[in-house]
Amino acid sequence: MISHDRNFLDAITNRTVEIANGRVYDYKFSYSKYLDHREQELEAQIEAAKAQQKYIKETEILINKFRAKKNKASFAQSLIKKLDKLERIDVDQLDSAAMKFSFPAAPRSGKAVVTGENLSKSYDDLTVFSDIDLLIGRQEKIALVGKNGAGKTTLTKILNNKLDYNGKLNIGHNVDIGYYAQDQTETLDPEKTVFQTIDDEAQGEIRTQLRGLLGTFLFQGEDIDKKVKILSGGEKARLALCKLMLKPYNLLIMDEPTNHLDMRSKDMLKSALNSYDGTLIMVSHDRHFLHELVDTIYEVTPKGLNQHLGDIYEFLAKKKTESIAHFERSKADNAAKKNKESSSNKESYEARKERDKRKRKLSNVISKCQSEIDSTEKKIKEMDVVIAGLDYTEQNKSTKILEEYGVLKNSIGELMGRWEEAEMELDLITASEPN
Ligand SMILES: Nc1ncnc2c1ncn2[C@@H]1O[C@H](COP(=O)(O)OP(=O)(O)O)[C@@H](O)[C@H]1O
Ligand SMILES: [Mg+2]
Repeated sequence: MISHDRNFLDAITNRTVEIANGRVYDYKFSYSKYLDHREQELEAQIEAAKAQQKYIKETEILINKFRAKKNKASFAQSLIKKLDKLERIDVDQLDSAAMKFSFPAAPRSGKAVVTGENLSKSYDDLTVFSDIDLLIGRQEKIALVGKNGAGKTTLTKILNNKLDYNGKLNIGHNVDIGYYAQDQTETLDPEKTVFQTIDDEAQGEIRTQLRGLLGTFLFQGEDIDKKVKILSGGEKARLALCKLMLKPYNLLIMDEPTNHLDMRSKDMLKSALNSYDGTLIMVSHDRHFLHELVDTIYEVTPKGLNQHLGDIYEFLAKKKTESIAHFERSKADNAAKKNKESSSNKESYEARKERDKRKRKLSNVISKCQSEIDSTEKKIKEMDVVIAGLDYTEQNKSTKILEEYGVLKNSIGELMGRWEEAEMELDLITASEPN
C-alpha cells in the first residue's frame, strides 16, 4: 500500500518500507510507530556522530601537537592511521526537502467574487445537481465537499468557464482565476518538459527566476528536462502548483490538490494558502488539511448546496449525528429488521465471550513480556559493567560471558516482537468491537 494517510496506514499495515536517498529502509512497525522509531534512531545517530566528531577533532589537535616533535612523530603517525581507518558515522539524510513558497499577492477584486443562482448541470440524461445558489465574497475561503460523483469537479469547471450550464452565474469585477484541476492532464501538456511548461506560461520579470522557482518546487538539475508524461503524481502536482505562481490571481479554485502530496508538502501548501490574501474555493476530502484553512463548508448535493459556517470537524460531527439519527429512524420503522437484529445480538453474545477471553489472554501475554523485558534489561545492565572490566587474557571465561550477553540481547528482541504482536492483535480486536 502506497499512501500518505497516517490513520489509514496504521489501521491496515504492520511493516513500513521507506525509500529515501536511493536506499531502502525496512521496519517491522506500522506507520506511526515507524515514525517514532525513526526519530529516535536519528537522534541516536546524531549523538553518536557528534561524539565521533569531537573525538576526531581532539585527535587532530594531538596530531598537530606531536607531528613536529622528533621523538613523538611516530606516535602522531599512528594517530593519523587510526583516524584514516575510523569508519565515519553517517547520519541518514531524512528527505527533509520541502517546497516553501507563498502565493503572489492578490490584486483587489470586486466584493462579490462569485454569484450563482439556480445553477444546474446535466450530462445528457444525468442530472448531476440542480438549484445551486452561491455567493462568495472577496477573501472568503470556502471548501466544497460531497460524495464521489456529487458534482464538485463539475461545479469548479463551470466556475472556470470550462463547461456550459443552466442558471445564472456571475464572476465579479476584476476577478482573475487560478485553477488547479483534479486531473492534471487537463492543464498540463504531457509532451512538454517541466521547464517548457513553466517557460511557455511565464511573462515579465519572473522569467529571469524560472530555475529558482522550479527549485522551490523541488525540481532540480535534470528534473527540469523530464517530460510531463513521465512525472509521478506528486511531481505533476508540484508542477501544477508552480504554474499558479507565475501570475497573481485573486481567486484560486483548487480541485483536490492534496491527493498526491506528502504530509510535508501538504503542510506547506496549507500555510501558503493561509497567508494568501485572495479568495479560495477548495475541493478536498482531507479533514486535517481543511481544518483551520476554510471558514465555510459547502456540501454539494443533488438538490443544491448545504452551507455550514464553521470548521470541518464541526461539520463532520454534525453529519455523524444526523446520520445516526437517520439510522435510528429507519431502525424504528423496520420491525422485520428488528427480529433479525435480536438473533444477531444473540450471536454477538457468543462472539463477545470469545473476544473477551482472547483479550484477557493477550493482556496477560503483554504484562508477562513487559516484566521479562524489565528483568532482562536489568541483567544486561549488570553485564555491561562486568564486560567493561573483562580480562580478555582469561579467554574461556570472557567468551562465555560474551555469549551469555548475546543470548540476553537476542531474547530482548524476541520479547519485544512478542509484545508487539500481542499489542497489535489487541488493537485490532478493540478496533473491531461494536461501540
Ligand atoms: N463529461 C461527462 N459526461 C457524462 N457524465 C459526466 C461527465 N463528467 C462527469 N460526469 C458525471 O457527473 C457526475 C459528477 O462528476 P464530478 O463532478 O466529477 O464529481 P465529483 O468531482 O464530485 O466527484 C458523475 O456521476 C460523473 O460520472
Ligand atoms: Mg472531482
